[in-house]
Amino acid sequence: MLKQRRAEADAAGLPVFVVDAGDTGWRSRRVSSGRKDQQVEKLRLQLAAMELGGIDAWTPGEGDLALGADAVFAAAEAAHTPVVATNLDCPGHGAPRWRVAEHGGVRLGFVSALDPALVEGGVGGCTASDPDDALASALAELPDDLDAVVLLSQMDLAGDYALAEQHPRLDFVVNGHVGKRLTTPNQLPHATVHLSSGNRGKALGVATVHFVEGADGCGVGAGGTADLERKIERYRDRLAKAEALLAAEGADAPDERTRERALRQKAFYAGELGVLEQRLALMQEVAAEPRHRVDNELVDLDADIADDEATARLVADTLARIEQSRGERPASPATAVAERPLDYVGSAACAACHRAEHAQWQATPHAAAWTSLEQRQRTQDLSCWSCHVTGGERPGGPQSPAEVTEALQGVGCESCHGPGRRHIAQAVQAASTGEPPGVGEAADAVTGSIVRDPPEQTCRRCHDGEQDEGRFDWASYRAKVVHGG
Ligand code: HEC
Ligand code: HEC
Ligand code: HEC
Ligand code: HEC
Repeated sequence: MLKQRRAEADAAGLPVFVVDAGDTGWRSRRVSSGRKDQQVEKLRLQLAAMELGGIDAWTPGEGDLALGADAVFAAAEAAHTPVVATNLDCPGHGAPRWRVAEHGGVRLGFVSALDPALVEGGVGGCTASDPDDALASALAELPDDLDAVVLLSQMDLAGDYALAEQHPRLDFVVNGHVGKRLTTPNQLPHATVHLSSGNRGKALGVATVHFVEGADGCGVGAGGTADLERKIERYRDRLAKAEALLAAEGADAPDERTRERALRQKAFYAGELGVLEQRLALMQEVAAEPRHRVDNELVDLDADIADDEATARLVADTLARIEQSRGERPASPATAVAERPLDYVGSAACAACHRAEHAQWQATPHAAAWTSLEQRQRTQDLSCWSCHVTGGERPGGPQSPAEVTEALQGVGCESCHGPGRRHIAQAVQAASTGEPPGVGEAADAVTGSIVRDPPEQTCRRCHDGEQDEGRFDWASYRAKVVHGG
């Protein structure tokens, strides 16, 4: 995608700059030790892919540092990543506080800021100093003849605002931390433009700068104000409705619950309006002077976009390497099971007594969920396996791909009904007492140890609205899984 865009721009004689503002290998300072190796592998892959695409500046976030400064800097060195780390302090590792890149006669300067609170007490062996001070000295050192200065930010959005206000020399703030999709960029003080392209590598942000003769600083395109004005209009409307409701008297007076809701709405819209009006005023103020115009686009990196061949090879190599670890671990997790019998036993064990349910389940995508991963070489991927198996990361279930026996591959009965070991033991015992099933105390024990009608919440553990891109709909999805339904 990057290469294709670059080729198009080259053909049009436009210089292209590429940056990534961090949290590339992992998203937070907490990462389980079992996961680090695989995430480092993925960080290496991403930095290598960025090298292929051509990158001008990268800064590590606290998520990257959580993988260990040694691993991060080794990966960056291997991929010749142009690291910039203005206020980062990782003893034993050096990175420039600022850098300059030039394409097609345009020269940009790059600096970075990492919120010290994110690495408080040290993360991966690194800490961060006050970003304000560090930026002040780095910006003073930058050459004078730059066309623009870009801050790679690992701050929250309020932090970005404050830094833009404090340092007029910044033209762009690219945030890699908050994961917000800013399709329309925010305007920050001193004609600074605020960019953020979401998380999980789902979109590539493409900001196009139209240089305007004699202009100073950058303004977001006219679309930005129009959108904001419409939103403000909408919110004013809703605020007025809530106020009217609260003011109504006599027969129209709201009951207690309606009143409380209207009060909450009033507080919410009044608060939001304050923020939005301030933002609009800033945009208008910036727009009052001639500015370079920035148009922004978030290009979704979905299946419609063909993979670049060399990058696809890198990805395939990494996936194959991770998938191979399947052979390196105990071949038969039977050993793990023998040491710690799991409460989850697998769907085959239910078939003997619930033949019809088993036959129906086998025809659902749940039964083939592991196969879906196998086909994509992702069974050992620690970001994937647990939702595609039975009891993954649940108490009494497998805690790693190595513990997934064949019986637990796929989303089995117990994913919805809960672990079945006790239920089966009790059913077998009840059968041996000769009592007819479904009668008496033994039957209560049998049914009491299993969930009869799993609630929506159970599904939401996996259909989490993010991984499934919000496709889950309780009523229609439930109808597809109930047996004989
Ligand atoms: C040895 C036979 C046997 C096995 C094996 C068995 N069950 Fe059952 N199951 C029963 C009996 C008996 C009942 C209670 C009577 C009925 O409703 O059929 C029952 C009831 C249930 C119910 C309904 C509970 C209720 O409150 O009505 C569910 C759900 C269930 N089993 C799931 C499972 C799952 C999942 C497995 C595999 C992990 C499993 N069963 C394995 C015998 C068995
Ligand atoms: C352990 C995780 C997990 C749980 C719990 C779970 N699912 Fe799923 N579900 C999946 C996965 C994974 C798939 C995709 C399987 C595949 O195609 O590889 C899926 C697929 C489905 C599909 C098929 C979607 C389609 O049309 O392609 C339906 C319907 C569904 N689930 C409904 C439910 C309902 C309803 C519940 C709760 C009662 C539930 N699931 C609980 C993981 C889960
Ligand atoms: C949080 C739980 C969860 C995780 C983690 C997860 N999946 Fe899934 N996956 C699902 C659910 C739920 C569905 C079914 C979504 C639907 O159809 O509504 C699904 C469907 C799928 C499908 C079949 C449908 C399709 O899009 O073709 C594939 C393939 C798949 N997942 C691969 C992966 C891979 C690869 C990973 C790791 C990068 C992964 N999954 C991680 C829950 C998960
Ligand atoms: C995706 C979730 C899901 C999976 C997987 C699943 N079930 Fe169910 N099951 C349900 C739901 C929901 C009900 C409640 C149906 C109702 O009350 O109408 C149910 C009901 C049952 C019942 C009660 C009687 C009936 O048939 O309605 C039994 C027994 C049962 N399931 C057994 C199993 C067995 C055995 C498997 C695996 C072979 C299995 N289920 C897999 C969701 C699931």
